[in-house]
Amino acid sequence: IQPLRVVLLGLGTVGLGVYAHLIRRPDLFEVVRVVVRDLDKPRRIDEANLEVPKALLSTDAWAAVTEPADLVIETIGGLEPAGEIVHAALLRGRAVVTANKALIASRWWEKLSRFAAGKQPLLKFGAAVGGAVPVLETINALARQSGVVQVRAILNGTCNFILDALEQRIDFDTAVASAQANGFAEADPHDDLVGLDAARKLELIARAAFGEASHFELNVRGIVGVTASQAALVREEGLSLKLVGSCERSEGHVRGVVKLHELAESDFLAGARAEQNRAEIVAGNGQVVRLAGKGAGRWPTALSILGDVHEYLRGRRITNQDEQVQPAVVNA
Ligand code: HSE
Repeated sequence: IQPLRVVLLGLGTVGLGVYAHLIRRPDLFEVVRVVVRDLDKPRRIDEANLEVPKALLSTDAWAAVTEPADLVIETIGGLEPAGEIVHAALLRGRAVVTANKALIASRWWEKLSRFAAGKQPLLKFGAAVGGAVPVLETINALARQSGVVQVRAILNGTCNFILDALEQRIDFDTAVASAQANGFAEADPHDDLVGLDAARKLELIARAAFGEASHFELNVRGIVGVTASQAALVREEGLSLKLVGSCERSEGHVRGVVKLHELAESDFLAGARAEQNRAEIVAGNGQVVRLAGKGAGRWPTALSILGDVHEYLRGRRITNQDEQVQPAVVNA
């Protein structure tokens, strides 16, 4: 079997992590092009002793469509040009794996959704929610089995990291800078702080849990304005200040809320430390499923992207085997 020809869009925190994983398996992947905004920016991961060869780099994001390739991994984020390019690549029959929650939660979904449906979907975005925590995968599985009644979750690693720091009396701006330095925050951290990133993820969760057609009403408040003394006071009372996204169906429509909660220690979500994400899902049969793990940063997100890539690879192998088996059956 030939290695999968991959175009990687973006070589930032996550893209570089994905690249490091891909080149470890030359038997499975051949990176044919890496698209960056600035050709001269250094592209190294010192801890992995890795440097991306300059010859692979291009500033033309349309390489996702023009280069001969099987798979496009999109880590540039944002709506434009990501939406147009991802759509064009899918129309060409290329598989696309992305962690771009803004894109999947946007109006582009109308055009993209058909590529995410079916047994062997060309479009996968498991990494858009939860980092390394398989939130969407679990909700999809539960929705197919007994349905989903409610989801409560900590969905933004940056906000959780900052709230944790505030509880330890570190001031807000220092905490934000530290979340950025750790590679947890979005390109524009405002999206994290006002709750927008969590809201986008909640929208994807609601879709997976309750289906497309539902009317979705969403209220969002972030963590802007929270002070260290406020957070420390909550902590002294034995509670934990957490940004929680929750959604449930009621009277035919789905309601989603992202807001701060003072959680008791006994609450599963209260235990999320630093950039961790947690989710508590109540299934239709009453079963409660709890998930926890690293929700932001290079390696957790890259790992999740690679999970989708390997799943695509497995599906492709099965399809190829089917194709090989069929003529033999016909001849017999
Ligand atoms: N900025 C996001 C977060 C990255 O902090 O959770 C992972 O989606």
